[in-house]
Amino acid sequence: MKKRSIIIDTDPGIDDAIALAAALFSEELDIRLISTVAGNVSLEKTTNNALKLLTFWGKRIPVAMGADRPLLASPSDAAHVHGASGMDGYDFPIPDRSNLLAEHAVNAISKTLKESAEKITLVPIGPLTNIALLLRMYPDAREKIAEIVLMGGSLTRGNKGVMSEFNIACDPEAARILFESGLPIVMAPLDVGWKALVRPEDAAKIKAMGRTGEMIYALLQHYRSGDINTGFEMYDSCAIAYLLRPEMFEVAETFVAVETAGILTAGTTLVDLKGYLKQAPNVKVCVDINEKMFRDWLLAALKRCG
Ligand code: BDR
Ligand code: CA
Repeated sequence: MKKRSIIIDTDPGIDDAIALAAALFSEELDIRLISTVAGNVSLEKTTNNALKLLTFWGKRIPVAMGADRPLLASPSDAAHVHGASGMDGYDFPIPDRSNLLAEHAVNAISKTLKESAEKITLVPIGPLTNIALLLRMYPDAREKIAEIVLMGGSLTRGNKGVMSEFNIACDPEAARILFESGLPIVMAPLDVGWKALVRPEDAAKIKAMGRTGEMIYALLQHYRSGDINTGFEMYDSCAIAYLLRPEMFEVAETFVAVETAGILTAGTTLVDLKGYLKQAPNVKVCVDINEKMFRDWLLAALKRCG
């Protein structure tokens, strides 16, 4: 089977860690690079967390450290959701730093694209700073980008601001650069993440899966997006689920704008499903998810991790 080549841009983050587990052990994906960005916690911590996960699984995948702050917005984080380390709750082995490249993530992404025989799909599951810098610094990179499948934005309400989702609200200008780029974009917004749940009975199954299951279960005890009674929200895994099982999503091709000027609404995605703005579609937006298919897929994906 021909694997799909991807680059994951991430800010681990507990749900990022679970998304990475699902991607790293998939036989359908070839992860060419993991790039890190400041988001859920500082760049140093997100990079350390990516390295911790690779060491835990004994995987050799290059990691490149990217932007340590947004383009214009003031830095912020989500340590209240993921813990001070970004992945609180598990005592990871000391990370093997030999996976870490010396070059900046934006250069590493550009180089990986340039040297690739085929196009690569970018999968950003954190703020979009690295991707925006890539498009500005290496405009030719776009020729090698197959698609951008991201977790971010919202159809309705926010989780960072009243209307704005964390990944977009952390760096609204970067998101705007991407959404105005004309590249093929798929967006898995908060709204599908709210339905992409690990429920109590699933958490028990995960715990019994072995080493990875125990690690994920321990992290979930410290994850503050949802809870053990109502279910934990698996936002970032939605991007991986779309890559592997797009049929579990209902998708609408529509125009999406990013608000950057609003005093109270900066970082809001305006998903113009009714065509008020009279603009051509620029994004495939996941508007709904088959919850059962997602849960079955995620549990099977995590079981493969050993
Ligand atoms: C997004 O914000 C982060 O806290 C999560 O990792 C996810 O990428 C959800 O809004
Ligand atoms: Ca994330």
